[in-house]
Amino acid sequence: MAANPFDSQNAIPGVKKVIAVSSGKGGVGKSTVAINLAVSLKRAGYRVGLLDADIYGPSLPRMGGLLNQKVEIGDDKRLMPLERYGVKMMSIGFLVEEDLAIVWRGPMLFKAMDQFLRDVAWGELDYLLVDMPPGTGDIQLSLAQKVPVAGAIAVSTPQDIALADVKKAIDMWSRVSVPLIGVVENMSWMVVPGGERVQLFPRGQMDNYLRERGIAKIGEIPFNPKVAIGSEAGIPISESTPAAEESVAFAAVAAKIAEAVPAGN
Ligand SMILES: Nc1ncnc2c1ncn2[C@@H]1O[C@H](COP(=O)(O)OP(=O)(O)OP(=O)(O)O)[C@@H](O)[C@H]1O
Ligand SMILES: [Mg+2]
Repeated sequence: MAANPFDSQNAIPGVKKVIAVSSGKGGVGKSTVAINLAVSLKRAGYRVGLLDADIYGPSLPRMGGLLNQKVEIGDDKRLMPLERYGVKMMSIGFLVEEDLAIVWRGPMLFKAMDQFLRDVAWGELDYLLVDMPPGTGDIQLSLAQKVPVAGAIAVSTPQDIALADVKKAIDMWSRVSVPLIGVVENMSWMVVPGGERVQLFPRGQMDNYLRERGIAKIGEIPFNPKVAIGSEAGIPISESTPAAEESVAFAAVAAKIAEAVPAGN
């Protein structure tokens, strides 16, 4: 039997660093952050892949502008990632109808995920970003153990309701001994038409908590409807408008990731 390329000692052939993008809570902007970071890392000169591992709600087909695109099987019988904006992309949403993955449960789900993780022909990559499903349950733990993760980020919104979920994400990564690079705060504020910065969510104990635990906050991404429009249209803001405040914020997070987990070794 062939060796499992994902057992704990083995890296994915050709892929230098796997970075997991997680969140304890759903809908905080994990997929948006993941695709914009992927584009930012690419623009910084790295070879980048993006794996949408959100089996229940794959969003890369839409966010990557790749709806209805079919994946081809290469000579070595592995799946060929689709390339967009210079980033190699793979999603379970490229393989099954949007509604089908929803009915998968238990062993069938794990089998599909396992095969999906093994059989992608990524080629040479500096960074493979993995957009994880929301939450910190069995699927996330199993994914975190299957893929050799060099570092993780946790995405959150600023308010205290999100804090409990951030704690769970922090706890999950420490349980599987994956270094947490830091927390990315999304939807931190919004600039209203008069130019004023408005806080969308009440700021609570998050910063204090992270400080006490010695966990870095590696970025604050403003809320801007243009970010959401870009996601719907399949053109991330970091690609369409690199000079926008949000894109600059994403690029700064990408630089922190590259600093924390250098691709060179
Ligand atoms: N900074 C932002 N400004 C404006 N809209 C945003 C921002 N971040 C995310 N959004 C929007 O919020 C919604 C949720 O974002 P997204 O799908 O990235 O979240 P998620 O955490 O991946 O969700 P899920 O838990 O379902 O996977 C989307 O419509 C997205 O376009
Ligand atoms: Mg998502």
